[in-house]
Amino acid sequence: MKNILLLGAYSDIGQALARAYAAEGNNVWLAGRKQEKLDDLAADLRIRYDQGVETFLFDAADTDSHESFLEGLPVLPDSVVCIFGYLGEQEQAQSDWEQAHRILMANYVGAVSVLNRVADAFEHRGKGSIVGISSVAGERGRQSNYLYGSAKGGFTLYLQGLRNRLFKKGVHVLTVKPGFVDTRMTEHLQLPGPLTAKPEQVARAVVKAERKKKNTLYVLWMWRWIMLIIKLIPEPVFKRLSL
Ligand SMILES: NC(=O)c1ccc[n+]([C@@H]2O[C@H](COP(=O)([O-])OP(=O)(O)OC[C@H]3O[C@@H](n4cnc5c(N)ncnc54)[C@H](OP(=O)(O)O)[C@@H]3O)[C@@H](O)[C@H]2O)c1
Repeated sequence: MKNILLLGAYSDIGQALARAYAAEGNNVWLAGRKQEKLDDLAADLRIRYDQGVETFLFDAADTDSHESFLEGLPVLPDSVVCIFGYLGEQEQAQSDWEQAHRILMANYVGAVSVLNRVADAFEHRGKGSIVGISSVAGERGRQSNYLYGSAKGGFTLYLQGLRNRLFKKGVHVLTVKPGFVDTRMTEHLQLPGPLTAKPEQVARAVVKAERKKKNTLYVLWMWRWIMLIIKLIPEPVFKRLSL
C-alpha cells in the first residue's frame, strides 16, 4: 500500500486516477483548490474502496504556500501525480497578460514550484515516483494554442531533466502525453473519436506505466506517430499552415 498525492485531484482525469489508484489498494491524498469538490470525491472514494482518503487545499498558482502545503502532509508521499492544468483562451492570452499568466502558472510555473520541493525530498529519501500530466501540445508551437503549448512544452522538458537528475537517486519520473481526452477542459471542442481517450483509459494507462517505470506515456499509440509527423514538417512549410 502506497500513499499517492494527487495534485488537481478533482479534475476529470484526476478523479479517474484517484479511483484507479484506490482500486489498486493505495491510500489517496486529494489536493485541489475547492474543499467542497475534494469532499465530494473523498466521500465517493470512501464508499467504493476500503482505502485511506485525505483531502488538502492546494493552489498551484500560490507558489508561496507550496512549502507549508508539503510540510502539512502526514508523511512524505510515495508518489506525487501532478494533474492540474488550464487550457485557457489563446486569442485572449495573446493580448491579455492576466490570461497568459494564468496559463503559464497552471501548466508550468506552479508545477515547477511544487515539484522542485518534492524532488529534493525524494532525492534525500532515495525513493519516490513523480508523474506529470503534460501534453502533445508541447511538442510543436502552433498558432492556435502556443501559450498552453509552450507551458506544457516547458513542463515536458522539466520532467525530462528531473528524470535525468533523479534516476541515479532511485526516483522515477513519468511524463504523460494523453492526446485528446474527453473532459470538461475539452467539452467545447469537436474532438475526433478515434483520437480521443476517456479519463478512465488515461488513468489505467498511467497506473500501469508508473508500475513498469516507463519514461514517457502516449495514452493512445497513434499520438506518438501523429506528433512525429507534425514535428518533421519543415518550419518554412509549417509557418504557412493554419494549425
Ligand atoms: N482533456 C484533454 O484533452 C487533455 C489533453 C492533454 C493534457 N491534459 C491535461 O490533463 C490535466 C487534467 O485536465 P482535465 O482534462 O482532467 O481537465 P479539467 O477537468 O478541466 O481539470 C483541470 C483541473 O486543473 C485544476 N486547476 C487549474 N488551475 C489550478 C491551480 N492554479 N491550482 C490547482 N488546481 C488547478 C482545476 O481545478 P479548479 O476546478 O479548482 O479550477 C481542474 O480540476 C491538465 O493538466 C490538462 O492540461 C488534458
